[in-house]
Amino acid sequence: MKSRLLIIDDDRAILEMMKQIFEGEGMEVILEESGEAAERIVATQHPNAAIIDISLPGRTGLEVLSSVKKVDPGIAVIMTSGQSSTQFAIEAMKYGAYDYLTKPFDIVKLKAVLAKALECNLLSRKVLYTKAVGPEKIDDTNTDVMIGSSPEMIEIWKMVGKVAQTDATVLIQGESGTGKELLARAIYNNSSRMNRPFMAVNCAAIPENLLESELFGHEKGAFTDAQSRRIGKFEQCNGATLFLDEIGEMSLVNQGKLLRVLENQTFERVGGNETIKVDVRIIAATNKSLVNAVKEKSFRIDLFYRLRVVSFYLPALRDRIEDLPLLVNFFTRKFARKYGKKISGLAPESLDILLAQKWEGNIRELKNVIDSATVISKGELLMPDDLDPFTQTKRTADRQSIAADTDNYYAFFRSLLEPVFEKICLKEKGTVFENVNSGLEKALVEMAMEKGNFNQVYVSKLLGISRNTLRERIERFNIGTG
Ligand SMILES: Nc1ncnc2c1ncn2[C@@H]1O[C@H](COP(=O)(O)OP(=O)(O)OP(=O)(O)O)[C@@H](O)[C@H]1O
Ligand SMILES: [Mg+2]
Repeated sequence: MKSRLLIIDDDRAILEMMKQIFEGEGMEVILEESGEAAERIVATQHPNAAIIDISLPGRTGLEVLSSVKKVDPGIAVIMTSGQSSTQFAIEAMKYGAYDYLTKPFDIVKLKAVLAKALECNLLSRKVLYTKAVGPEKIDDTNTDVMIGSSPEMIEIWKMVGKVAQTDATVLIQGESGTGKELLARAIYNNSSRMNRPFMAVNCAAIPENLLESELFGHEKGAFTDAQSRRIGKFEQCNGATLFLDEIGEMSLVNQGKLLRVLENQTFERVGGNETIKVDVRIIAATNKSLVNAVKEKSFRIDLFYRLRVVSFYLPALRDRIEDLPLLVNFFTRKFARKYGKKISGLAPESLDILLAQKWEGNIRELKNVIDSATVISKGELLMPDDLDPFTQTKRTADRQSIAADTDNYYAFFRSLLEPVFEKICLKEKGTVFENVNSGLEKALVEMAMEKGNFNQVYVSKLLGISRNTLRERIERFNIGTG
């Protein structure tokens, strides 16, 4: 599905330039020279994101921002301005803008910010729960579906009904890939704050000191790079909902600050004295055992108690394996539609193979397996051969034990290449070396960028390459452009 982008700027040259850039990225672009029609466009054409200039003829950019946010709280808006006025930036963030950029644009940065903004918009998509009764009737273009009919999942849904409307802090625990983010979004979708934004911060993806300013903001001069005041997610999310993902990775210093916000809704920006009061609903998630983290003293016990006012535990897929056929059925239809294939389901032997897997990556892993199998399938049913390259339990186990031994990259990549090598050689004859290597390089740089929140200084240090080399790769591989 193409992302749709609304751009409002009174400078025609800028509009044309951005149209070229973002259409080149495969987006649908709507251009406007003033904000007069903004609400109507948002209501009828549902853009996923908008780039709005602050100084527009007629209504100001800030007025437009606040009114489009009323029409669609999920739209991710990047405000732009010719001058770097801190005051505008602060106002924009308080009105719910996703970010604020000054002209002339650094195109790489603009693309990276937009990619993140689109991710944020995806978070606001509706989540629908179903026991898989006729999921083929569900239009999942604008909705994500959460499936399950096991008693555990039904209990979870009853609890969503009970707690969503309250402002209680929620903690979601569960292994990786069990659906924690989906559940967090479902709680938000069903809450009384659904008409206000939902923003997410991944505490594991951002280095500790940057996380503090991401959450709480900073004052000008708070540290060497702090050239102006910055509004953090807590201020941006005032009156709204903040999803703190991977909370188990948060440092003790940040845990202390978070505890204080939970206790009395106040905090100070980094390097600031002004006490700021906010009203933010927190939904936190982790795949770590917080009880163990508390025992190991890496997680504050008082914060743990505060967070788990309402606590969900998403069971591993292997512990509710009765949901597997429903999930498989749903994913097969979904990917068959996506790839334009006429696959109606699974051969019975295929289902047996899937039921016998360990599913350590849970539903995400299952979804990926069905996705890949659908791509290579040639018939109307997914056959064991289609699943084979992606499921062999032993191979997965080997790969994981090799992965754990992080010195042995050779063995790790060899085990990854082995099952697909013949196919690659057939398909890429003459360019195998180049294509496989650039695939690896792209994955590595992209993951490092995501981990470092697109901070090039941090990422070049992490990878041990120069910033020029990093920039070159970002451009070559189109990283951060969604
Ligand atoms: N019950 C479900 N029905 C359908 N799809 C699901 C379900 N649970 C999870 N998924 C899908 O599986 C994938 C992983 O889910 P999600 O990102 O919510 O997991 P997570 O618990 O947050 O994982 P992690 O700990 O790795 O961040 C997503 O693509 C999600 O849409
Ligand atoms: Mg997650």
